[in-house]
Amino acid sequence: STRPSISFRPINPSDLERLEQIHRDIFPIRYESEFFQNVVNGGDILSWAAVDRSRPDGLSDELIGFVTAKIGPAKETEISDLIRYNSCKGEETLVYILTLGVVESYRKRGIAKLLIKEVIKYASSVPVCRGVYLHVIAHNNPAIRLYKRMSFRCVRRLHGFYIINGQHFDSFLFVYFINGS
Ligand code: ACO
Repeated sequence: STRPSISFRPINPSDLERLEQIHRDIFPIRYESEFFQNVVNGGDILSWAAVDRSRPDGLSDELIGFVTAKIGPAKETEISDLIRYNSCKGEETLVYILTLGVVESYRKRGIAKLLIKEVIKYASSVPVCRGVYLHVIAHNNPAIRLYKRMSFRCVRRLHGFYIINGQHFDSFLFVYFINGS
């Protein structure tokens, strides 16, 4: 078989079905169709896709991984207290990662790490952006190892943050600080 050749591109409307399918397959939480519409149509959600250009049979552009995120005022987030504000303008922002996933057969090759790097690169290019943050369910060890390895800081444990089939689960809140925050 050919060596995988992973590349990154924006998510577009032709990714809709595959994006929804992967979310269904790998997350315990259901997302609204409005969310997927927003992602593929480039609404206020930022997104990056990973594809394997070496895949045969017309699959060379099919999603094998993705990250979705949004950017907003740091003052309106739950970690507003952790941010350094330079002025009274209140224009500082934070990027929030909504979902991150890699299909099972492509895991443990560093693809998630590269997807996060894309988000950090974007956030670092925004002068008023102070960091990237996310929630992860407390028992998701592969994801937690990934964030720690990438120098995210675990700043909070939120009790009962997720409710799945009526059961409550804690989450950790991880932050990657940038631009001197
Ligand atoms: N050879 C061998 N091992 C490697 C290589 C390589 N070339 N490259 C990376 N690795 C190892 C890493 O060291 C890491 O090892 P560890 O888990 O033992 O610490 C492991 O592979 C995973 O790192 P990545 O390859 O960067 O991550 P991956 O692409 O496998 O994706 C992810 C990780 C996204 C958590 C994946 O497991 C997944 O999709 N899980 C289901 C969905 C999920 O949990 N998403 C995150 C939820 S939180 C949120 O969405 C905000």
